[in-house]
Amino acid sequence: MTAENITHTTCEIAFELKNGRLLANNQDVAYILPSDAIEVARLQLNHNLWKNLVGGLYKSDMHDKLTQGARVLDIGCGPGWWTLDMARLYPNSEFIGIDMADVFYTQDKPANASFKIMNAGTGMDFEDASFDFVFQRFLVMGFPTEQYLLSIKEMKRILKPEGSIELLELVNHYNNAGPAFKNISDWINQALEARHMDSFIADKISTYLLDADYVNIQDITYNVPIGSWGGEPGEMFLAVQKMALPAVKVMVTELTEVTSEEYDKNLELAFKEADERQISTRFRLIYATK
Ligand SMILES: C[S@@+](CC[C@H](N)C(=O)[O-])C[C@H]1O[C@@H](n2cnc3c(N)ncnc32)[C@H](O)[C@@H]1O
Repeated sequence: MTAENITHTTCEIAFELKNGRLLANNQDVAYILPSDAIEVARLQLNHNLWKNLVGGLYKSDMHDKLTQGARVLDIGCGPGWWTLDMARLYPNSEFIGIDMADVFYTQDKPANASFKIMNAGTGMDFEDASFDFVFQRFLVMGFPTEQYLLSIKEMKRILKPEGSIELLELVNHYNNAGPAFKNISDWINQALEARHMDSFIADKISTYLLDADYVNIQDITYNVPIGSWGGEPGEMFLAVQKMALPAVKVMVTELTEVTSEEYDKNLELAFKEADERQISTRFRLIYATK
């Protein structure tokens, strides 16, 4: 992955360079991770981890519909690794990825995939009942609770009757954390709270879907190991964390009292702690029908 592979066109959301990373600077965007080539590479690694070693591409009962031809939306798609893989797997279906940042990977893009810049936190510019399947993954550091709830409502509006919704989220908490990983989750939590986001929103999604009258709600928990103690997934997730934790540092040090030096020193300790304490991260995948 090189920066040349990423398209950058004009969009309404402003971005600014902070400590060498590109971050959104817009009052309607709460996202605390960068939108740049390093992050695109991290998201590719993370996508491959999920696709090949953890939960697969999706869990909803959509295979037959997707084989025949369905319309699918990927909200906050990032570079579109999921959108692109799904489009290749199901050539009769149409896949649309939306994101507030134009980090879309368009090289070798299949004809049945397209990308659109859109701030999904403030409503979605799509017709009612126009999608069969709506997918949203890893927006815990992007949507304040109010926007998350709006997104769930909007997904229902744009889904066709009996359409499927699927969400996957990280929980900002490390199982077996020692002092260093405890610091990391506390500091990220403080940064998220400063922007009205909820570290534990994943644990509430099922209830939100119930409240929004979705049916057939399924909720799966994954504990993904960090470090070689967890074999191949552990090694790969450690590599993801080694990119994610420096990426989140920019906004953590801006939104909290933590200094850059303190953060870096803690990170070194954390990576030792991962194997010593067999640390893992919890995720929840929730799917349901309209
Ligand atoms: C952690 S990344 C996950 C990307 C992708 N879903 C994946 O699994 O690879 C979160 C994505 O959400 C996008 N995002 C954050 N806030 C957003 C908003 N308000 N509207 C649309 N996209 C948003 C970011 O630009 C980023 O690409």
